[in-house]
Amino acid sequence: MRSIPYIIRRATFLIKERGVVNSCKFIYSRYGYFLKYRIKLSTVLTPDQLNIQNRYAYKYEPIMHYSFNRMLKGIDWDWKESTFIDIGCGKGAAILLATRYNFKKYIGVELSPLLAEECRKNIRKFIGKKEIDYAVYNCDATKYTIPDDVNVFYLPIVLDSGYKIIYEEKTDPVARYKYGSFALTN
Ligand SMILES: C[S@@+](CC[C@H](N)C(=O)[O-])C[C@H]1O[C@@H](n2cnc3c(N)ncnc32)[C@H](O)[C@@H]1O
Repeated sequence: MRSIPYIIRRATFLIKERGVVNSCKFIYSRYGYFLKYRIKLSTVLTPDQLNIQNRYAYKYEPIMHYSFNRMLKGIDWDWKESTFIDIGCGKGAAILLATRYNFKKYIGVELSPLLAEECRKNIRKFIGKKEIDYAVYNCDATKYTIPDDVNVFYLPIVLDSGYKIIYEEKTDPVARYKYGSFALTN
């Protein structure tokens, strides 16, 4: 449980950075949205806390549902005929949100065994009785061979991969990710 002074400091920082409306959206997206499904994704975890020995590893932080939906709604694409991959899927926020778009298949790749297991549990909890084709691999994404049928990538960073960027948003008003959001296709 956080102390009251911490909560006040955090709220002041958020409002100064994003304004009142976007701060409310951020708080709802980060702390409230998935709780409806009894899924808790909010805690940010550093590679040290996850005991990940990889010099490229980036901290775990879930995608905001506002950001994810805005990105997918901004792209004209046939999701139903596509396979979605989240490289560094963490506890599965992007995969959970992607299930709303009825992809043909979902793949998550995650370095931390703890997060990969949480991701599998969260998918099962979120989809309930719905049948979907999914797989979560606990491995280093740099050593994972991406199957040929994958055509929608969700990445925390843009790799120099030769794929075409079809959506680019440099500043996300709610999440304020340092590197923006991107969607790639071949
Ligand atoms: C910013 S979080 C992404 C969160 C997730 N995509 C979501 O939708 O909530 C980055 C994730 O990448 C994972 N990661 C970092 N390095 C990795 C690697 N080399 N291979 C696989 N996963 C990695 C981290 O453990 C962390 O969970």
